[in-house]
Amino acid sequence: MPVTRVASVIPMRSKLSGFLCLLHRQHRDTKRSHRDICIALKTRNTRLSRQKLFGEMNTLPTSDIPDIDTEAPAAVMCSADTIFRSSLRSSLEQTPLPDAVDTQDTIKQFLSERILKAARVVYITLLERNPGLIRDRKHHLKTYRQCSSGKELVDWLMKLNDCFQSRSQAVGMWQVLVDEGILVHVKQELNFHDKDTQFYRFVEADFDLNNTTIEKDSKDDELQESLSLLVQMGPDALLTMILRKCPNQRTPDDLEVIYEELLHIKAVAHLSTSVRKELAAVLVFESHAKAGTVLFSQGDKGTSWYIIWRGSVNVITHGKGLVTTLHEGDDFGQLALVNDAPRSATIILREDNCHFLRVDKQDFIRILKDVEANTVRLEEHGKAVLVLEKSSAQESTYQGGSASSNKYTVMSGTPEKILEHMLETIKLETSDFIDPSVSDFLLTHPVFMPYSQLCAALQHHYQAEPSEGSDLEKAAYALNTKQKVVKLVGHWVALFGSLLRDNPVAFEFLEKFREGVMADSRLSSMLKEQLRDRRKTKITENGCQTLTKLNRKFDWFSAYEEPVGKLRSIKAQDKVLYEIFKPDHKAVTVMLPVDASVNDILTTLVDPERNYVLVKMNSSGDRVQLKLETTAVSASLGVNERLFLCSASQVEQLTPVSEQLVPEKSTMDTLEQMGSKDMASQHTSYDWELFMAMHEVELVYYVFGREKFPGATTANLERFVRRFNEVQYWVVTELCLCEDLLKRAILLKKFIKMAVVLKEQKNLNSFFAVMFGLSNSAVQRLNKTWERLPNKTKRVYCAYERLMDPSRNHRAYRLAVAKLSPPYIPFMPLLLKDMTFIHEGNQNYTDKLVNFEKMRMIARTLKMIRECRSQPYVPSSPQKGLTERMFLDAQAIRISTYSEQSLTLRSGTNVRLYIQNLKVIDNQKKLTQLSRALER
Ligand code: CMP
Repeated sequence: MPVTRVASVIPMRSKLSGFLCLLHRQHRDTKRSHRDICIALKTRNTRLSRQKLFGEMNTLPTSDIPDIDTEAPAAVMCSADTIFRSSLRSSLEQTPLPDAVDTQDTIKQFLSERILKAARVVYITLLERNPGLIRDRKHHLKTYRQCSSGKELVDWLMKLNDCFQSRSQAVGMWQVLVDEGILVHVKQELNFHDKDTQFYRFVEADFDLNNTTIEKDSKDDELQESLSLLVQMGPDALLTMILRKCPNQRTPDDLEVIYEELLHIKAVAHLSTSVRKELAAVLVFESHAKAGTVLFSQGDKGTSWYIIWRGSVNVITHGKGLVTTLHEGDDFGQLALVNDAPRSATIILREDNCHFLRVDKQDFIRILKDVEANTVRLEEHGKAVLVLEKSSAQESTYQGGSASSNKYTVMSGTPEKILEHMLETIKLETSDFIDPSVSDFLLTHPVFMPYSQLCAALQHHYQAEPSEGSDLEKAAYALNTKQKVVKLVGHWVALFGSLLRDNPVAFEFLEKFREGVMADSRLSSMLKEQLRDRRKTKITENGCQTLTKLNRKFDWFSAYEEPVGKLRSIKAQDKVLYEIFKPDHKAVTVMLPVDASVNDILTTLVDPERNYVLVKMNSSGDRVQLKLETTAVSASLGVNERLFLCSASQVEQLTPVSEQLVPEKSTMDTLEQMGSKDMASQHTSYDWELFMAMHEVELVYYVFGREKFPGATTANLERFVRRFNEVQYWVVTELCLCEDLLKRAILLKKFIKMAVVLKEQKNLNSFFAVMFGLSNSAVQRLNKTWERLPNKTKRVYCAYERLMDPSRNHRAYRLAVAKLSPPYIPFMPLLLKDMTFIHEGNQNYTDKLVNFEKMRMIARTLKMIRECRSQPYVPSSPQKGLTERMFLDAQAIRISTYSEQSLTLRSGTNVRLYIQNLKVIDNQKKLTQLSRALER
């Protein structure tokens, strides 16, 4: 029997090559070898190769080329695939199709005709050369009429051409005919099996297989061409067939074929060999015939990850509609799996006959969760809106929870999309836990999403209605979203507390929002139930405390009544007394809001027509003329700084007022009466009040520039920072004003002892203030005084001095702090320095998206401050061991600070009064002069 040779170099697999070969054969004039073209197209599934393909096609005579829309390369890629051809054909006839699908259909038809022609040639050759292959078969007592076994068909093909490299190549070729419906399994199975007991029949009548008249001379050529086409279409048919198999029925050869295919798929090309091999064993082929099919809906539970193998899908989100389209080689559906969150979008088939490679959740988690793409970029309308990155760090949180490993965390995004993502991550089942990134978002939102924008977006989400699904599904989704918004808002209130009550925009929103919740009977009764449940369990998490304390009327601020008798927080709108000096040192006073601008002050005090200016001057006489738009000047005054009002020409003549230059005498007499422990306790008590009055968000305003946040105040933070400077100068001032050497040495010892107690009390802010004071050059140079210190005190001082070592970014301090448990007062200037570094070293936006990585870093510091205050501070009674005395863990109430023996209540009040009203010299030059006068 003559052996017909097909082209000796048959590319193993290429969806396109069969089609191209065909075109090539029709266009012999181009004189390019089959091999050249196939090699050019070997890199498949890339947009480049598709473009090349169009290039190739454009060189062919137009009569030979189907009408291909160059905007729709995916249509060409689909062309060789024929699995659903017959079902599609009938559906196409009934449904009007979009343009792209018309083109696709043209190509399909074109190919079908070619395949049919090839099938006829092969069939006639089979009948002519080996008619016995088609006969009645008996198997398991059943007779199958006029059919051939799969094995015989493969054997016959292998004999027909010695260029087949494997039986699977021949199997693939027969599979093409099975997919076309030209060859059918006697039991209608979809896969072709290379077996003795599996029988196949040519559908001769339907396809008119005998209907071909081949010239005797061109018989071999025709056969060669037909085989060439089928051989080149075989690999795809084979692959689809393998993918359709149940994963546990795949043979090692099958896995190899899938593995090879994965090399060409964008979504998995970056994965390691071993991961791709594992994937080959679990990938499931999923196809849908109809455009418009909903693959899954937003809010659904995530069950699988998908790679688009053929076709395209639309990504649709509630409220926004179509946000993007994903094409062949793209993947989707990983977010819900990795973050264990509901689906963030609805996926709808954009065209008929889409094919997916699907990995189900269990396999995805086992194989891919840790290795799958580290960065995911979500787009909407062609623009990136959210960039997520795999994070493996275990981040402990102040909520007491921890971020589980290997989740996608937000790197950057638009404010709205980040919020949308945050809402998705909120879990209603775990009533107390909120993902730490939600706190990061809320604590930093003023930087990238002003209150008004956040309130509008929250309202929008609260009201969002899904556009598809049954009424029941829509209602369930809407209720779920509402609950999430309520939880997020509750957390916002918990984090911001009275800041929101004082913010008119936020307050109005919260009021309306509360009314909305109350009016929704289903939602409010659900929430009331949840609140009841929560009250039963002990709750420590801050956000949930708010929810727990919410009363039945959902009064957001019922938990935020300021404790009576404590230092009040300064609010932006509070009116304070401005004391302003004239050049002749006479003072004028006026009550104005904390956040009043220089312009406000000037217009209140003088005729705006006159050329007056406001000047800030310190005790050294350094002056700064304030700009008209500068706000909150009184809150930002440093130690001993004062405001002056004068005409522009008088600025240079201004001199400090006498109260800036005090004190001139030491308070040694008073200090002698006070124990270092009592002083330390009063410092700590006062510091706590200052620290608690400050909101951590004030640090954001401070570092990013208060003027960027209308209506915001940093007065409490500035007051606390000023206190640090005050205490520091107080130590230096008192030592430099104490003329008696012996007394000075006693005072020095007292301050060191006070530092020890402050450290024990975990008041690191004042501890450092005292230590900085002691390390001031004006104090350090007092050798005679230091010499008089007992050795033990010197040793203690040296040990503590090491904590101040700034090397390696204050490592010594950081290590010491890491060991502390709350409550404690941190070293505030270092926190501010850290935040300033983060701010100055990182852009707020990257590629027009909020740099959320920076916000996370900022939030980390804020959370640290929150953590410090997460336990109530309880002042001690001096009889007990200091550490246990000062910080009881239990929910203790405030008890007396003083022992009966050492201090009467009156003297306690005196110590407090003294500590709160320190008079200091902040002029370093003057302090050095004083020091020199004491010890030369
Ligand atoms: P998942 O949330 O699991 O399900 C919907 C998928 O759509 C989502 O994962 C992403 O993979 C994908 N997707 C692509 N673009 C977007 C987008 N702009 N917003 C949300 N999801 C998107």
